[in-house]
Amino acid sequence: MITVLTGASSGIGEADARGFAREPPARFVLVARREVRLRALAAELGPATTYVAVDLVDEDAPARVRAHVEEHHGGTLHLLVNNAGSSWRSTFGDGGYENVRRHMALNFDAQLRLTEALLPLLRASAPSSIVNVSSVAGRVSRGGAGGYSASKFALAGWSDALRAEELEHGVHVGLVLPGFIATEGFPAAELTAKAATRWVVSTPDKAADAIVEAGPGGKAERYVPRPWAAVVVLRTLLPGLARRLSTGSAGKAALTRTGGEPT
Ligand SMILES: NC(=O)c1ccc[n+]([C@@H]2O[C@H](COP(=O)([O-])OP(=O)(O)OC[C@H]3O[C@@H](n4cnc5c(N)ncnc54)[C@H](OP(=O)(O)O)[C@@H]3O)[C@@H](O)[C@H]2O)c1
Repeated sequence: MITVLTGASSGIGEADARGFAREPPARFVLVARREVRLRALAAELGPATTYVAVDLVDEDAPARVRAHVEEHHGGTLHLLVNNAGSSWRSTFGDGGYENVRRHMALNFDAQLRLTEALLPLLRASAPSSIVNVSSVAGRVSRGGAGGYSASKFALAGWSDALRAEELEHGVHVGLVLPGFIATEGFPAAELTAKAATRWVVSTPDKAADAIVEAGPGGKAERYVPRPWAAVVVLRTLLPGLARRLSTGSAGKAALTRTGGEPT
């Protein structure tokens, strides 16, 4: 199975490459910016694994990845995992449009541009799959992460439409929505420091399993771990309660001062 995996140099992507590699004949094209890491992982996984060191926000990134797949795999592609992503916490008041734009450029636009470049190869290699890695923050928003949530909501919404559109072309589209996974970019240090909250933090291996289920496994969407789906149900059925819980103590104090209710 020939797979393009973005964000392969750390965290969920790296765990995904290692997990898949246990089930040969997986052949990976690893994608991220840090070439040293990609080279080391490719050497570890064996000669069938190659890599493209590229900043996915760059204009020519999708064409470079496509050219690599054509050169090394004759244009055959069975799975695209759009996993690369990042978060830069800021309120809108502080970070403004620039913070939102930065999130959209990497977590949304780059995924669409790479998918656009590789879709003809995926269709020609059908049955094939695309897995988009969104987030629970792509269904439920919290203060300080508006730009991140906007990009992950957009990715989730687009994925639902793409799934419906690509069905007739034999390209399955799956969505993975992790909660808290301890990784380099998302260390969740505050949560793992306390026994009371440690249990909500999951591992990159669990997310990697979900990517397999949502790709070759044919699942439409998968929360990691699964109980996070309940938070999304709560947000839909009891939106007032969900907002009160996500507003936090600072917000509640401010609302009390202004006489407002967190509705
Ligand atoms: N961990 C969590 O709690 C959590 C929760 C929900 C969703 N997610 C999502 O899961 C995905 C993976 O995150 P992670 O937790 O594994 O974080 P991570 O360890 O920081 O990994 C992020 C990956 O994306 C790559 N990347 C970042 N910017 C890039 C760019 N401009 N061009 C190319 N590659 C880039 C990084 O590689 P380089 O730095 O080498 O480029 C790295 O391989 C992300 O989309 C994230 O939003 C994570």
